[in-house]
Amino acid sequence: MFNSLPRLPLAHLPTPLEALPRLRAALQAEDPGRPVPRLLVKRDDQTGLASGGNKTRKLEYLLGEALAQGADTVLTVGAPQSNHCRQTAAAAAKAGLRCLLVLGGHAPRLTGGNLLLDRLLGAQIIWAGQEDRLALLAETARSQAASGYRPWVIPYGGSSPAGAAGYALAFQELLTQAQAAGWQVDHVATASSSGGTQAGMAVGAWAAGFTGQIHGISIDQRADDFQPALAELAQQTASLLGAPHPFRAEAMIVHDAYLGAGYGVLGDAERAAIDLLARSEGLLVDPVYTGRALAGLLDLIRQRRFAASETVVFWHTGGLPALFAYAEQLD
Ligand SMILES: Cc1ncc(COP(=O)(O)O)c(C=O)c1O
Repeated sequence: MFNSLPRLPLAHLPTPLEALPRLRAALQAEDPGRPVPRLLVKRDDQTGLASGGNKTRKLEYLLGEALAQGADTVLTVGAPQSNHCRQTAAAAAKAGLRCLLVLGGHAPRLTGGNLLLDRLLGAQIIWAGQEDRLALLAETARSQAASGYRPWVIPYGGSSPAGAAGYALAFQELLTQAQAAGWQVDHVATASSSGGTQAGMAVGAWAAGFTGQIHGISIDQRADDFQPALAELAQQTASLLGAPHPFRAEAMIVHDAYLGAGYGVLGDAERAAIDLLARSEGLLVDPVYTGRALAGLLDLIRQRRFAASETVVFWHTGGLPALFAYAEQLD
């Protein structure tokens, strides 16, 4: 149904789809009368590129685009502990491209977590300080071109239509796996921030005639602001894939009750979710994205938003290296 797009193979696919029986039992034990759905996890923390994560699927198409345009340098932008930047640095190294990362703020005293990996992967880091990161990104791309390089800018979070296309296809992968295992998926929950993951899933779900729900657990945006952007990106992604379709903002499910004290601020809810999954299933989530998304999903379950007969997939989008940057707060 979809057009094929230029693609650089980077990911180990399909990623596993696994049951979480001990997490389910732990939730049931909290309150035996509460309905707890069957819980599955889609292991995109295992995409295989420099510690994995959701950006690998996006980067297959983003780098495919960059190479098709004849780029020799990729540039992108993010927070100092950006998983997107770390994965972009790895993808660029694998493709033989130079990588420049514009990171917000100033260099920290200690280089740890994703930032350490950025450096090991050979990326050149430009600290934005108090400057606007996006303006500095555009200016850096211009100066690279003026120096004779062929730069290609990958947007924040890799959330362009080409990046989101990776998740349209990923959703089809999920449904194929679930069908083979005899599981009917009723709900999917994912961390949602720059939007490419959720918007891409919406396109894949529509194309497959999926009748369940995709729940974006917002990491840093209010639903009212975020839903129109998700619908617009889904629409552009469907067009890029040669399957134009309108998407309504109201149809994008965004839970914005879990923003806590803001982006990257580890709260009690994230800490409890990280501990519960680690101790019940031996599975790690990160403090910024997947810990917050899991905390949101656990709250929805405790609020009895799902029936015991339903199946909910927690889409694990990675982020492992950030755990080490939060060692003092987590220990
Ligand atoms: C680990 C992790 N999960 C989820 C997300 C959110 O994905 P998206 O930006 O496509 O909404 C990110 C984005 O940076 C991430 O690093």
